[in-house]
Amino acid sequence: MDKETVLLNNGVRMPMVGLGVWQMEEGMETEKSVLWAIQAGYRLIDTATLYGNERSVGRVVRESGTPRGDIFVTTKLWPTDFSDPESAFHASLSRLGLQYVDLYLIHWPAPAMERGIWQTLERLYESKLTRAIGVSNYGVRELEELQSYAKIMPAVNQVSFSPFSYKKDVLEYCAAHGIALEAYSPLTRGRKLNNPRLGKIAVAHNKSPAQILIRWCLDHGAIAIPKSSNKQRIKENFDVFDFSLSPEEMQELDFLR
Ligand SMILES: NC(=O)c1ccc[n+]([C@@H]2O[C@H](COP(=O)([O-])OP(=O)(O)OC[C@H]3O[C@@H](n4cnc5c(N)ncnc54)[C@H](OP(=O)(O)O)[C@@H]3O)[C@@H](O)[C@H]2O)c1
Repeated sequence: MDKETVLLNNGVRMPMVGLGVWQMEEGMETEKSVLWAIQAGYRLIDTATLYGNERSVGRVVRESGTPRGDIFVTTKLWPTDFSDPESAFHASLSRLGLQYVDLYLIHWPAPAMERGIWQTLERLYESKLTRAIGVSNYGVRELEELQSYAKIMPAVNQVSFSPFSYKKDVLEYCAAHGIALEAYSPLTRGRKLNNPRLGKIAVAHNKSPAQILIRWCLDHGAIAIPKSSNKQRIKENFDVFDFSLSPEEMQELDFLR
């Protein structure tokens, strides 16, 4: 179990592989995918106000038969709600039909209003309405700025992360400051899965290119949230805990473009 979770800087454990649900339709598509994921062993679901499918995510989390406390639910604050983050959070919670979320993220940096937004997230965390708070799409400069006034440090920074979007500076900064890096679009949205060098490494491990990309995240210590609405691919993307990449393979992948 331990290799499948990471300890956040506030002592909360977070699964290392989750299901991303961006661009899944509210209703059947989201409900089926989240249920298949939970049945396949996933315990992390990544949604957002923007995705428009919090109701479906919440319904499955409540009704899957897996205890609520075993499932880690993330949602996010979208910029159009920056003027009233507290109401936006409660609206998300109400759409999800949950008593709390596990992680609440600022979806994009908000240079002018950030301090007030972060203080609201700190209050939500202190009220135990979210078990952890964090950010998304933050570079080193934005993280430094946030850390200059934060009373509670962000637990997670969710960024685009794959060999084709390798943010080494952000990874190193997060590692040095106890912030877990969470990889979005870990499969390059499907665009680079035919890369021949990636394919060669996949063949060597008897795994698929998608599994290699997810493993590359894990071997960098990053959480990965691949999206799929296909039952077989959902299972495939979770079957990544029985191998690891060699330092040479990691290096080769780090420099893929
Ligand atoms: N914070 C942010 O700003 C932000 C931005 C983007 C994404 N995200 C989060 O990150 C999640 C994942 O990123 P993403 O949705 O951009 O893209 P992704 O996970 O990199 O790629 C998803 C694409 O890959 C395909 N796919 C999935 N598994 C596959 C496999 N094993 N073999 C071949 N193709 C496969 C999917 O198609 P099928 O569904 O047909 O399998 C889909 O077209 C999102 O769902 C969202 O939760 C966050």
